Amino acid sequence: MPLAVYNSILEQRLAELHADFFPLLRGRSQLTLEIGCGHGHFLTAYAEAHPNEFCVGIDLIADRLQRAERKTTRAGRTNVAWVQAEAGLLVEALPRDCLLTRILVLFPDPWPKRRHWKNRLIQAAFLDALAARTASGAQLCFRTDHAPYFSYALDAIRSHAMWRIDDAAAWPFELATVFQSRADSYQSLIAVRSRKEA
Ligand SMILES: C[S@@+](CC[C@H](N)C(=O)[O-])C[C@H]1O[C@@H](n2cnc3c(N)ncnc32)[C@H](O)[C@@H]1O
Repeated sequence: MPLAVYNSILEQRLAELHADFFPLLRGRSQLTLEIGCGHGHFLTAYAEAHPNEFCVGIDLIADRLQRAERKTTRAGRTNVAWVQAEAGLLVEALPRDCLLTRILVLFPDPWPKRRHWKNRLIQAAFLDALAARTASGAQLCFRTDHAPYFSYALDAIRSHAMWRIDDAAAWPFELATVFQSRADSYQSLIAVRSRKEA
């Protein structure tokens, strides 16, 4: 795709975030973010169990989010919002007064081929971006059924200055996602944002 076209799409997406989504965050200083929330089963239940947290589910696919939205509207949940966007774009553009306190990444696309690893969500650059939008103590909760991606994420986090693996932390909330219910087994990790400022 020519760079000019790519830049104009990016600008359009950013303008949409500013016009349609960021107004919903006004007055909210702390967010729980589920990246790749799919149909929103997990986050809907999580939000119900954590009424004092404001939860945001992000995905690339509109019809999944519409189903999620219908579910939470029907249930009258007011502490959850859904946004169609690319996670990196949202994290970079988040209003400066909004911090992420917990980020959930559940069964992300594993991109198994080496030439596609650059598309994996958990990478140094994305960990930098998350570090810039979190305070110390924030959690990044990651779960996958793809063992090579688990090792890859573990290595990326272990070699990042701003995040450390917390082996003692308990998984914050259990509810099988769609992909979890299809998996034979899976692995989880919790990384904690360390004290040093990004
Ligand atoms: C394998 S599915 C897992 C869905 C759900 N978390 C589950 O466990 O059932 C991955 C989801 O992440 C979304 N996704 C992939 N890359 C993304 C990105 N960069 N930003 C936002 N969502 C993304 C996809 O559209 C898809 O719905």
